[in-house]
Amino acid sequence: ARVAILISGGGSNMLALLRDMASGDHPAQAVLVASNDPGAAGLARAAALGVAVAAVDHRPFGGDRAAFEAALLEPILAARPDILCLAGFMRVLTPAFVDRFAGRMLNIHPSLLPKYPGLHTHQRALEAGDAEAGCTVHEVTPVLDAGPILGQARVPVLAGDTADTLAARVLVQEHRLYPAVLRRFAAGDRTPVFL
Ligand code: GRF
Repeated sequence: ARVAILISGGGSNMLALLRDMASGDHPAQAVLVASNDPGAAGLARAAALGVAVAAVDHRPFGGDRAAFEAALLEPILAARPDILCLAGFMRVLTPAFVDRFAGRMLNIHPSLLPKYPGLHTHQRALEAGDAEAGCTVHEVTPVLDAGPILGQARVPVLAGDTADTLAARVLVQEHRLYPAVLRRFAAGDRTPVFL
């Protein structure tokens, strides 16, 4: 399967996916890493690994999401991906874009969905006094952070945790979970992965 990965920043999840796909006997290959930020550090990390990259700055498009997505679609469609992986991609996609990749677009979200869709997930878990937190890989549907769950990993919330310490603990699990889910998904198996 041909996989395109969309990032907005450092791309640590993207790197975890690329490393796993490069480790042989994987049913998928990375064909593109694209970003809405030409300055995203992940672009250079992907290029250093020999993966094709593309960037379309969303800022010149202002609030015209459809126009930005039309521009972003060009390099994506040229790469002919079978699967799209959102990995730290921080732009909300329109239903029209999502529908083009219905059933073959994944996202990783740093909470145990359905708890805490949206932003500031770790702060919200701490404020709620949750005993555990974690991350979720789900199919992307038009409703933000609400598609079928394909995997989850849990971590304990520890005394004295801040949003940053909790985020760091969850990120380690994200890098285990996303590759495990993509391996299974690319092989046509949608059985959820629970780590
Ligand atoms: C991570 O917390 C991830 O859960 C969220 O974006 C953050 C940064 O991801 N989607 P990455 O390091 O850019 O992959």
